[in-house]
Order: sequence, then structure tokens, then C-alpha cells
Amino acid sequence: MNVLFLGDVVGQAGCEKVRRELPRLKKELSAGIVVANGENSAEGNGITPYSAQHLFASGVDVLTTGNHALRRRDVYDLLEEGNGIVRPANFHPSAPGKGWFLHDNPAFPFAVVNLQGRVYMDPPLASPFDTADALLSKIDCANILVDFHAEATAEMLALGHYLDGRVSAVIGTHTHVQTADERLLPRGTAYITDAGMCGGRDSILGVEKERAIERLRTGLPVRFQNDPEQIELCGVLLVFGKTPGKVERIERVRVP
Ligand code: FE2
Repeated sequence: MNVLFLGDVVGQAGCEKVRRELPRLKKELSAGIVVANGENSAEGNGITPYSAQHLFASGVDVLTTGNHALRRRDVYDLLEEGNGIVRPANFHPSAPGKGWFLHDNPAFPFAVVNLQGRVYMDPPLASPFDTADALLSKIDCANILVDFHAEATAEMLALGHYLDGRVSAVIGTHTHVQTADERLLPRGTAYITDAGMCGGRDSILGVEKERAIERLRTGLPVRFQNDPEQIELCGVLLVFGKTPGKVERIERVRVP
């Protein structure tokens, strides 16, 4: 089984890029399951029922999120239904939604866990390490992908090594910048610090660069606008082998 993971899909232009490219990509890469981080898929960030349905209709099977998961209240019902969409498992227990999802493909049961980092991020959350321990003791599935939505590379690597040999893959999201460190860790877990984004190449993390520069230059409030130009699609392909739960190969994917 090949699983395609798409990094943070940014705004309508990112969603449209996924819609245009995904059918061909799935065929080309023989991807039977597609997971995407959709927490910025709505215009102005967050995720809405509209952007989530757009991604599902484009061929995404499971949507993960992150720090913007709860920004739009109209998505709470969808999160509560938990039908293929997850929010970080280490959110407060009263948060709507669930932190993991079992994709019930009889030929290839596949669990997706979503966690969020705590370094340089707010609000305060439960430990992603302890939350992972608690979840892994109850998830009865060999194939487990963890989307770790985090800012600090050290925290991402630390969770990767902490879960090495206990999950199939730890994939970083949130920085929107694809890193070149994809590999199998010593005990066999596939790892990348960040899968990258599906958004404007000539932007700052998907936001029009002039506005982002203005915010950083002046420190004054500036209304961000997603950049709809030169959209690229980034992610990783996980090639599972014959041994249950084990990824044989992880490859970066980038479609300009
Ligand atoms: Fe994020």
C-alpha cells in the first residue's frame, strides 16, 4: 500500500491545486490512501465544512489539522462526527472532535493520529509524548501515521525518535516549508520534519509576501491574504512493505 500525505493545504487556491493534481498523482504514485493537513484550507485560515468537503471530494481520505483546527465554529459538528477528520489529540478534553481516526480499509487498516507541539506554540497543551503513549496503548492497528503539527525542529525530531519503532510514520506539518531530511529512523519509523505545503510558491507560508513583510517589519496588525499565484503541491509518499506497520520507503513529493 502506498499512502500519500499532503502538507498544509492553504486557502482556496491550495484546495483547487489539490483538486487539479490529485487524480493524476494518485495514479502515478499508486497511492491507495491520501491524508492531507487541512487546517488552513479555508480562506483566512482554519477549516470549514466547505473546504473540508472540497478536499474529500478531491480524493483526500483523512484530514488532519493543528493549531487552527477550532478557529471556525461551523466546523465543530464535522469534527464531532469524526468521519475522517481529526484535531490534535493533546487539545483539552473538552475540545470538539477526536485526535485519531481509524480508516477502515479491510485490506489495509490504517490509523491517523494528530498531535501538536508545545515549543513556540500556544495555548498550553498536554504533552504530545504522554498523549501518544496513552493513544498507542489503545489503538489496535499496525499501520499508524502521526501528523505532528509543530514549530520547533528539535521537538519534531524528539517525537520522531520517541515513537521510532512504535508507529509507521511521523510526519511534521505547520512550518509550511518542506525539509530535506526524510528518512527511516533506526527502528524503522518513516520521518520528515515538515512535509511542506500546498500553497503559493512565491509567498510567505502561503500568505501574500508584501503583507507578511509589512507585519514583520512594523509589528502592526495587517490583514493577511492568501497568495493565489504559482501554487505548488508538497507532501510525501509512504511505501508500505509486507511487514505490517513498516514503511519501506519515504519520498518527498513536489508538484510545481
Ligand atoms: Fe499550523
